[in-house]
Amino acid sequence: MAILYNEERKTITIQTANTTYQMRIAPHGFLQHTYYGKHVNGEDMSYLILNYDRACSGNPDEVYPSRNISFDTMPQEYPGYGVGDFRIRPIAVRNADGSRGADFRYVKHEITKGKYKLEGLPSSYDSKGDAETLTVTIKDHVSGLTIDLLYGIFPDEDVITRAVRIRNEGDSTAVLTRTLSMSLDIPYGKWDMIHFHGKHALERQTERESLGHLIKTVGSTRGTSSHQENPFVIIADHKADEDHGACYGMMLVYSGGFKMQAEVDQFDSLRLVMGLQDEQFGWKLEPGSVFTSPEVIMTFSDEGFTKLSHTYHWFIRHNINRGKYQFARRPILINNWEATYFDFTDEKLLAIADEAADLGIEMLVLDDGWFGDRNSDNAGLGDWYVNEDKIKCGLTSLVEQVNAKGLKFGIWIEPEMINEDSDLYRKHPGWALKMPGRRPNRTRNQLVLDMTRPEVVDYLYERVEDILGNNNIEYVKWDMNRSLSDVYSAALPTDRQGEVLHRYMLGVYDLMERITTNFPDVLVEGCSGGGARFDAGILCYSPQIWCSDDTDPIHRLNIQYGTSFGYPVSTMGAHVSASPNHQTGRSTSIHTRGVVAMSGTFGYELDPGKLSEEDKAEIREQIGIFKKYYDLIQNGLYYRLTEIKEDYFEAWQFASADKSEALLNVVVTNTQPNPTLINLKLKGLDPDAVYEMINETGKHGFESKYVSQAERVVKTTFTGETLMNAGYTLPWAFGDYPALQIYFRKIK
Ligand code: GLA
Repeated sequence: MAILYNEERKTITIQTANTTYQMRIAPHGFLQHTYYGKHVNGEDMSYLILNYDRACSGNPDEVYPSRNISFDTMPQEYPGYGVGDFRIRPIAVRNADGSRGADFRYVKHEITKGKYKLEGLPSSYDSKGDAETLTVTIKDHVSGLTIDLLYGIFPDEDVITRAVRIRNEGDSTAVLTRTLSMSLDIPYGKWDMIHFHGKHALERQTERESLGHLIKTVGSTRGTSSHQENPFVIIADHKADEDHGACYGMMLVYSGGFKMQAEVDQFDSLRLVMGLQDEQFGWKLEPGSVFTSPEVIMTFSDEGFTKLSHTYHWFIRHNINRGKYQFARRPILINNWEATYFDFTDEKLLAIADEAADLGIEMLVLDDGWFGDRNSDNAGLGDWYVNEDKIKCGLTSLVEQVNAKGLKFGIWIEPEMINEDSDLYRKHPGWALKMPGRRPNRTRNQLVLDMTRPEVVDYLYERVEDILGNNNIEYVKWDMNRSLSDVYSAALPTDRQGEVLHRYMLGVYDLMERITTNFPDVLVEGCSGGGARFDAGILCYSPQIWCSDDTDPIHRLNIQYGTSFGYPVSTMGAHVSASPNHQTGRSTSIHTRGVVAMSGTFGYELDPGKLSEEDKAEIREQIGIFKKYYDLIQNGLYYRLTEIKEDYFEAWQFASADKSEALLNVVVTNTQPNPTLINLKLKGLDPDAVYEMINETGKHGFESKYVSQAERVVKTTFTGETLMNAGYTLPWAFGDYPALQIYFRKIK
């Protein structure tokens, strides 16, 4: 049993392989949080809570005349609202009588086998049959507002998930104005927050900041999880690094707006909360009705970030991703977007398919522009009917012809959007989100469909069903290219407009659920102007997400580096594109572009007809390398070998779980004259084993005259201990962005 209740001490203890989490039902039904961290034996940890009379921190009525107990200082599982805790809080409510308060007391708890499910929302699932659920019910006895605090326990994975179900057991309607999924008090320590900020075409840049007494907020008000922040943060001990120190991870399984806050209070105790964005939010909760929050995936590592990342990588692969392509090898694709943009015909696509087949590429993905009157990004969204001016042979024939060349066929859609210049808009102007009397804000000249309306979701499902059901389409790129503004649904009453943003996401998830259930063999790749919805919610439906619209391999290094803290490489859509790069104008070798894209789902996004014979030969070679190392890259353990601020080179490595092989990758981003030599200490090897270095490519900028001049003892076998403790020193790098892949294989 991973969850233990001690009747005498009134403690509920959650044990995972390496962590312990505990709460205590204190006198008067106060639900205290006593501990979350490295594994302890499970005794009553409430000795850590010392209660003193603290001036200006008031006392609940029940403890009178004592002044020692205060909500303002007590570590709690899910603090109340407006009743004496002045720190950040997970819930806010407007009661029917106008009062703004909720004061929760423990009612009961239940321990059940298996993992809870969340109505209408994606969430993690139990893949081995050993997960358990703890449900702790707390209640505000005045209003009747009742909350089931849900905890999903994955013992071997060291993961605890959290969510809440809020029920109105009173007899009058309340309005929830904040409904976060979790709160966590960490009374001791000095902490940093690592978060992943960005912008379009430069997502998930890593930033580490120390947590002082200002409240820090990470979030999105855009109706998407966003380019600008990611719903994943790490709270790390000041001294923690890749291999040492305590750190907590919090990842929201949600693709809309979110909020994560951290507050170090007056006594230096840290409180963390995470869940739905509360700006523009208000949920009318009628008597008897229930509101369900999305889920947060939490873990704790006492061995630094690498272990924490490995936990998330494993968990996303095994407990979030699902469907045929969860583990099956995904086809190496070529996408026509950067090859043609909107300017293509069936003939042009077939020419790309011919070239691609010749290179060993396995799937052609037809991107934006194949439907409606879509010759630019000003028209056509919503009209999901093939444009026969461009695809003269028709979609079915095009797919058949591509298949006949030995390639699978994939297609792009952006179902949630509508152009005013579309037949759909002309027929249903009320289906777009817009506020009465206001001209709506446009992004890329498009508006957002009102996904709160079941008839909109039905229309989209019918269109997608028609396209997928009548053609041999094996992949869908599901795009979503704008933030939500003018959030108002003509279908909802005035007093429910605060529900639109969340109901929008429920509509999107309903559509995704229907499509992935009815077309289980179709590989879905999430996308949102690149990586604006790179989150665990989307990953429940699509095992990979287009990481960024920036395909410049040097920027991609940082984007993929930041993404790797929470998400495995198998989720990161990455393509080799043309040089000079279309976003930055930078030139890089096809080799460097291949090395970077291989640490992702791997594919191409260029016109192969424009390539030199030399580059084509290199592509054939890199496809072979990717296939050879596929298991190691996709299923191996991923190690970051460089620090957040490194500006000379970036290095990362894969090691198989059984430590029998490793692949080292290096890109020099800022070549130095007369350089400091790069020495890399490998990780995750067997110290006693002997490894053979069998594939030092030894070229592409590492083969310069400086290498031949080096006096060096040539050595090709090493013990794991040597590679991990003394490392391997690379030859002098020269030229623009040299890149290297070195393979190590255990020979004894
Ligand atoms: C978004 C995507 C791109 C491409 C275009 C098409 O920007 O991120 O990859 O599909 O839309 O319009």
